Amino acid sequence: MIKGVIFDLDGVILSTDDFHYKAWKKLANRLNIPFNREKNNRLRGVSRMASLEIILEGYHFSEEEKLAFAEEKNNTYRELLNGLTPDFVSVDVRDTLDELKNKGLKIAIGSSSKNTKLILSRVGLINAFDAIADGTDIKKSKPDPEVFLIAAKRIGLEPKDCIVVEDAFAGIDAAVVGGFVPVAIGDACAHKQVKYKLEVLSDLLKIVGE
Ligand code: BG6
Ligand code: MG
Repeated sequence: MIKGVIFDLDGVILSTDDFHYKAWKKLANRLNIPFNREKNNRLRGVSRMASLEIILEGYHFSEEEKLAFAEEKNNTYRELLNGLTPDFVSVDVRDTLDELKNKGLKIAIGSSSKNTKLILSRVGLINAFDAIADGTDIKKSKPDPEVFLIAAKRIGLEPKDCIVVEDAFAGIDAAVVGGFVPVAIGDACAHKQVKYKLEVLSDLLKIVGE
């Protein structure tokens, strides 16, 4: 029986995945490296440094240069985050979170991002979840299930009793390996191992009602 839902943040709760794309695109353009939305899909769910490695495939830079590039991207990303307000949260997302809580389910965030708490504060959702596990808690990023296992522990549930909602292939992989019920939205719907696909987040309410 489903007792809890663990949400990815970027691309699931908020469209901050587009800010990640824009920030990486700015860096790639400056370095004259081809980068498009298709390649960007490979960055979903993976850590900042692992994302950079994917962008730099076939190019050689020193570790020092790579660290500087990652910082540059994060600075651009954080400038974009400055524009976030509570209006950025859709009515569908707000209603879904409220409805899940009304049904007695636990809800948590499981995100690879080290900017998770900053983002949730900006949009007024910092107290909306029963637990938050993020990039500051983990040693291994998705597709490793670490962040979801921490989130499940913090809400006191077994993985098998939790849905994981993801827009990333790496996130669905992590959910499967961790023993969670993998639910996809957006790009991740093309993943072969998803149990359910969502068009909008509120489609979740049908699944937990089953
Ligand atoms: C994930 C995003 O949520 O967080 C990735 O899908 C991103 O694209 C990762 O690289 C790390 O985010 P941050 O904010 O720590 O750079
Ligand atoms: Mg995501």
